[in-house]
Amino acid sequence: MATSIDVSDVNIYYGDFKAVEGVNMTIKARSVTAFIGPSGCGKSTFLRTLNRMHEVIPGARVEGKIVLQGQDMYAPSVDPVAVRRQVGMVFQRANPFPTMSIYENVLAGNRLNNKRLKKSEADTIVERSLKGANLWNEVKDRLNKPGMGLSGGQQQRLCIARAIAVQPQVLLMDEPCSALDPISTSAIEDLIHELKSTYTIVIVTHNMQQAARVSDETGFFNLKATGEPGHLVEFNSTEKMFTNPDNEATEAYISGRFG
Ligand SMILES: Nc1ncnc2c1ncn2[C@@H]1O[C@H](COP(=O)(O)OP(=O)(O)O)[C@@H](O)[C@H]1O
Ligand SMILES: [Mg+2]
Repeated sequence: MATSIDVSDVNIYYGDFKAVEGVNMTIKARSVTAFIGPSGCGKSTFLRTLNRMHEVIPGARVEGKIVLQGQDMYAPSVDPVAVRRQVGMVFQRANPFPTMSIYENVLAGNRLNNKRLKKSEADTIVERSLKGANLWNEVKDRLNKPGMGLSGGQQQRLCIARAIAVQPQVLLMDEPCSALDPISTSAIEDLIHELKSTYTIVIVTHNMQQAARVSDETGFFNLKATGEPGHLVEFNSTEKMFTNPDNEATEAYISGRFG
């Protein structure tokens, strides 16, 4: 099911402001791709263009081509809602729906897509998704308790369960561990490692050790100057990026000389 994503000549705008310029890359299927770079260089903005979430901001738009499974996801005939079903997203702050139980949180996306889910189907999806997110054993006896009652790390895994419940091909994660303690972070990193056998995963992280630990390939974004658009400086295997990058700016960034 997982698929690669081909990005060609992508420019991203907020109104007149060009936030990101000239991105080209191929994100491989069933692998983890990490985006690193200093704050404000457009990592989150670029990530949101990969499931057409960027354009929900008034005045925001995207130029260029992003091909998922042979189809340009920005072609006029493509329904953005269908794209978001194929490309799920997990945010920096775990955001379970506050009034919903653990069970209903997992199903939130499925309920939007299919109003008449049978109880037996729903049970199957909940169990499969919570198992997939390594959360089942911790919550199976309290599925009807509020999602908000879980710890931060559990809430983030609940959000991952909700994202995979609709069986996407791609999972986007924007700094999914930045609000978590080291043990919860490690649980999420282990989970990412398992999920990549099924999904294509793209993760933004400001933690370079994390990028080195979890990803197969890394893209380094940077800004020439404040107010200039962010751009992709280098895209390479993670091993190469962290041992022998092609670009001097990458070397400077990963060795902690700026950012
Ligand atoms: N909703 C928005 N409206 C206008 N500008 C935005 C918005 N979100 C981000 N930006 C701008 O886009 C640029 C890239 O931001 P962002 O993608 O959040 O960077 P990063 O995730 O790398 O820190 C920044 O200059 C930021 O101020
Ligand atoms: Mg960001």
